Amino acid sequence: MSLILYLVFLVALAITVNANTEKLIFLGPSAITIPNVHPGLDDLRLDTLSPTGQHTLETQLTVKFPTEAEPRGLQSWYLIEGLQEGRRYELRICWAATQPTKFWLDVHQITEVFETPLLISSLATYSERRQELGLEDPEYTKAGSSTLSKSVLFLQLHSAADFFSSNRTLMEFPPAVDVDIILDPYLFNILPRSLGPTAIYIAILAVGSWFLSGVIHTWLSSIEATPKPHTD
Ligand SMILES: *[C@@H]1O[C@H](CO)[C@@H](O)[C@H](O)[C@H]1NC(C)=O
Repeated sequence: MSLILYLVFLVALAITVNANTEKLIFLGPSAITIPNVHPGLDDLRLDTLSPTGQHTLETQLTVKFPTEAEPRGLQSWYLIEGLQEGRRYELRICWAATQPTKFWLDVHQITEVFETPLLISSLATYSERRQELGLEDPEYTKAGSSTLSKSVLFLQLHSAADFFSSNRTLMEFPPAVDVDIILDPYLFNILPRSLGPTAIYIAILAVGSWFLSGVIHTWLSSIEATPKPHTD
């Protein structure tokens, strides 16, 4: 039995290792028709996440300490494509505990962004800064930019440094943070897909341990039932 307890402990440990995670659960919006005009969504040159394509983005995020004007630090924007209407998705951002940071995740419908001055100006600023810094994919192509009906969302990410150091340099220029941004579709809208194997494993373990405890119980009873030879 102790072996099983040990295994359960290992699984629990494996799940809790990603301690620094911020997540957001949302539903796929209804598809909208995006006209093939320029400038269009592709011209924003945002990194794109998609459940069928790239669903994990390993990147470095610049951060800054919160100010009165920007209480949530810096903003970055991403496009989430290829969603299914009504399906549940989980979006996670994971980062190392050695780089204390605060993150805020928000998803917005396209129309909401284009109708909200604050959002559209933030998106435009980010897109321009990205293109100036040459951060966009050099192998970027305009392929696939045809008139399509798509279920799309914008991801707005805020990142603020969250530490104190007596080192002036660090306080003025907090180092960029390595993050993984992960898009995880739910299975049957109840369980994130990435947890599927763990769930199956735990289920097998539970059933297995139930049978094993039965076997051990029978075995122990059989030992008790066996008359011991007298030694006197
Ligand atoms: C402050 O931090 C920077 C960047 O990590 C480092 O290069 C520098 O040596 C540090 N200064 C002091 C006084 O520790």
